[in-house]
Amino acid sequence: MRPESKPKMIISVAGGKGGVGKSIFSVALGAQFAMEGNRVVLADLDLGAANVHTYLGIIKKTPTIADFILKKAPSLEDIMIDTSRENLKIISGAEFVPGMANPAHWMKLKIMRHIKALPADIVILDLGAGVHFNTLDFFGMSDRGIVVTAPEPGAVMNAYSFIKGALFRRLQNIFRKHPELGPMIDAETKKTGEESTFTLEALSEQIRALAPDMLPLIKEIETDFSPALVVNRIPEGELHVLVKNLIILSREKLGLMVNHAGNLPDVPEITGYLLRIPAFLSAPEGRAYLKAVRNISGKIGRHPGPAIDAVKTKADFSDDDVEKIVALMDTLDDSIFSDTSRKACRLRMYFRPAEVVTYLINHGVKSGLFHGE
Ligand SMILES: Nc1ncnc2c1ncn2[C@@H]1O[C@H](COP(=O)(O)OP(=O)(O)O)[C@@H](O)[C@H]1O
Ligand SMILES: [Mg+2]
Repeated sequence: MRPESKPKMIISVAGGKGGVGKSIFSVALGAQFAMEGNRVVLADLDLGAANVHTYLGIIKKTPTIADFILKKAPSLEDIMIDTSRENLKIISGAEFVPGMANPAHWMKLKIMRHIKALPADIVILDLGAGVHFNTLDFFGMSDRGIVVTAPEPGAVMNAYSFIKGALFRRLQNIFRKHPELGPMIDAETKKTGEESTFTLEALSEQIRALAPDMLPLIKEIETDFSPALVVNRIPEGELHVLVKNLIILSREKLGLMVNHAGNLPDVPEITGYLLRIPAFLSAPEGRAYLKAVRNISGKIGRHPGPAIDAVKTKADFSDDDVEKIVALMDTLDDSIFSDTSRKACRLRMYFRPAEVVTYLINHGVKSGLFHGE
């Protein structure tokens, strides 16, 4: 991987339900950012039902993310494909390959590191439907998360479940190893809606009593984790009552700010363009949809991700080394991090090889992995 010169923004597009318009919106958003002069890579991470390539008219066989996961391609950059639009490249999703739809956590970290090293200004991840750990993890690792929904009860409920799932997954990933908070969050994930009295505020209270040094991390989540909501198939400017309820529910039940980024109009003619969404965006029939996407992209593009983005991934460690270092960290006694347990959680969450190795060496851990051959 080559070192990156410019910090990039990673935007996830997700939503609990299939068929609500995530992929078409991802393509349109990518095309819009590309038209503004950004180098855009659109990665299809729907590991079960990939279709970004078809919306761009790419129907011949090309390398896919499966080649990377199954180690047939050494880097994600190698499997980038040009599209008909200048500045817009894609990483094609895979056909369903058993044994690949559920990559191990280290593989997700590896995919994410490669995504961060792509030669692009903006990377858009089209995530699948549902609340699989894959989707939740990639969503949690992005700088901006967009949840697409339709103004129907089922879709809105799924969007809420997705947001809740993503929040809990993020908390679990951060506090997984914490002796008091880890089990507490695990117990919370097993409660039903009626039993749960969870909010970030309530969690803060418990943390204040149990592990006050962790409080800043909760504050960080409160400010960083604010999914943007896009509602498909309703006129611009409208705030549908179900969507309003979703925003209120997220605030009251979870303590999260969900922002309504905008709506996309219902355009029946879109079905005539399913193999050429860029042509749809240039056609008169696509004008209203494009205008809505432009409006949303303006809002999303203005919000850079958290500061973590500005830190460059060091390329000195091979993927194999990183896998071994992650495994090594899991075997270490947590007292190694005793001066600040917050730091341990942070290191595990935002894994950056050079930083972690420096930290471990400073704390007396010796390993041949840290040095060259
Ligand atoms: N704004 C829209 N107006 C009309 N039909 C739409 C719109 N957005 C999506 N669709 C229809 O919904 C189908 C599914 O869209 P897609 O983006 O593939 O959904 P997802 O990725 O969420 O599964 C498309 O084939 C298209 O026919
Ligand atoms: Mg899709």
